[in-house]
Amino acid sequence: MAEAIFLEQQLQTETRVQGFISRSHQHYIDGNWVSSVSGKSAFRGKDWRQMSPQARSTLIWRLADLMADHLEELAQLDSIDMGMPIRQAQYGTTPMAVDHMRYMAGWATKIEGETIPVSAGNFFNYTVRQPVGVVGAIIPWNFPLLMAVWKLGAALAAGCTVVLKPAEQSPLSVLRLAELVTEAGFPPGVVNVVTGYGPEAGAALVAHPGVNKVSFTGSTEVGKSIMRTAADRMARVSMELGGKSPNIICADANLKRAISGAMLGIFMNQGEVCSAGSRIYVAREIYDQALEQMGDYANRMRVGNPLDPKTQMGPVVSEEQYQRVLGYIDSARREGASLVAGGETLPEAGSGFYIKPTVFANVTDTMTISREEIFGPVVAVMPFDDLEEALERANSSEYGLAAGVWTENVRTAHYLAQNLEAGTVWINAYHIYDAAAPWGGFKQSGFGREMGHHALELYTEIKDVWINLQ
Ligand code: NAI
Ligand code: MG
Repeated sequence: MAEAIFLEQQLQTETRVQGFISRSHQHYIDGNWVSSVSGKSAFRGKDWRQMSPQARSTLIWRLADLMADHLEELAQLDSIDMGMPIRQAQYGTTPMAVDHMRYMAGWATKIEGETIPVSAGNFFNYTVRQPVGVVGAIIPWNFPLLMAVWKLGAALAAGCTVVLKPAEQSPLSVLRLAELVTEAGFPPGVVNVVTGYGPEAGAALVAHPGVNKVSFTGSTEVGKSIMRTAADRMARVSMELGGKSPNIICADANLKRAISGAMLGIFMNQGEVCSAGSRIYVAREIYDQALEQMGDYANRMRVGNPLDPKTQMGPVVSEEQYQRVLGYIDSARREGASLVAGGETLPEAGSGFYIKPTVFANVTDTMTISREEIFGPVVAVMPFDDLEEALERANSSEYGLAAGVWTENVRTAHYLAQNLEAGTVWINAYHIYDAAAPWGGFKQSGFGREMGHHALELYTEIKDVWINLQ
């Protein structure tokens, strides 16, 4: 009986999802679907910033509740749109998006200033944090809903209005979210969605004189071009960019946990993760053993239709990405790496762009696959002889987003946590995220921290006030 009810609900959700997809959506401006962009109320934004923090908080929380009510639907939209395994969408990213909204709803009432004991004379000096204004949020296709929410939550809590541009490959869940924003009762124009290609819609948003701040997640190359444009009018920017994250497995690690953690670290979401652990350094004494287990793990992974609950890895997002990843696999072969698992496509899995989980050994530090972000299910596994060497090689990347360490030695753990050049270090874990924990990069992985209260800094300006008491 329970099963029948569950199946019935599942079917209803699928019908709703298909209904949503079959309608035309285009842009969402001022609470309406429109075919061209002329909405101006995001640029007024006064109603929203003047609303009491508690009223803002209540609306953000209400949006989170609506997202929770439509969780299955939002999960299916992401899964259909970009190939995310449905289990990951249902139990990972979509609940995380709801939690994130709730966490940020709480902050709306807690954005405080300071009183400053100045010595310049008899003055009362205090600060206030004011919303930066109109935020242009540009997001990638790898976690469509979650990336939108990471920007929206903090921006809305801070009192900003937002023009959100989803990636052209995967706009569906964000468009559905825009409808939920209206249903939650937000004033029109607080959250707007502009769809389109990067060089057109994205670039126009960045160049728009009314946009005070650009919050970007995507490739380092596009991040740099956005900074150049934003520089002309000194628009604020924050950047969450690419990575080439190292994962270090020490000889004293719990090997079973380390292998499954490192494999999750690279293959989660088909490797289409900014923080994918794409360089694995293994202590030489356990290297052969680890490599064999990694090969087995990769070969056992269930790759297939993302809507099938048993699927562990879906197809990559697009033909462009498929060709890019296959190009990296070719480069590894040409440059002399040896294939341990995968290395080929999987046409029998269905009509998507399927690539087998791929593990390479005999990779040197100068090979293309150990330097460039692949953004696909391909990992380089390399031996190391001592910790200093592992650290130096881990840090010899232009990127610095995340890093993983597997060891049972507390001194090694703290030493590497202190010295790895990365915005996040996981010890005996990988791909753990929480709304309260700051997230962002060192070096060319970007700057600014999304998540945690640090995210509010991206969407507020500090104003200092002097009152002459003389
Ligand atoms: P991309 O950086 O071109 O796209 C990300 C977002 O930026 C999309 O919404 C896109 O429409 C927009 N965009 C593109 N060009 C723009 C421009 N000139 N001005 C304003 N907005 C623009 O990423 P793409 O081409 O989808 O993927 C290429 C590579 O980038 C991937 O293989 C991966 O290495 C990296 N990437 C990294 C991501 C991350 O989370 N760190 C996310 C997506 C891609
Ligand atoms: Mg691009």
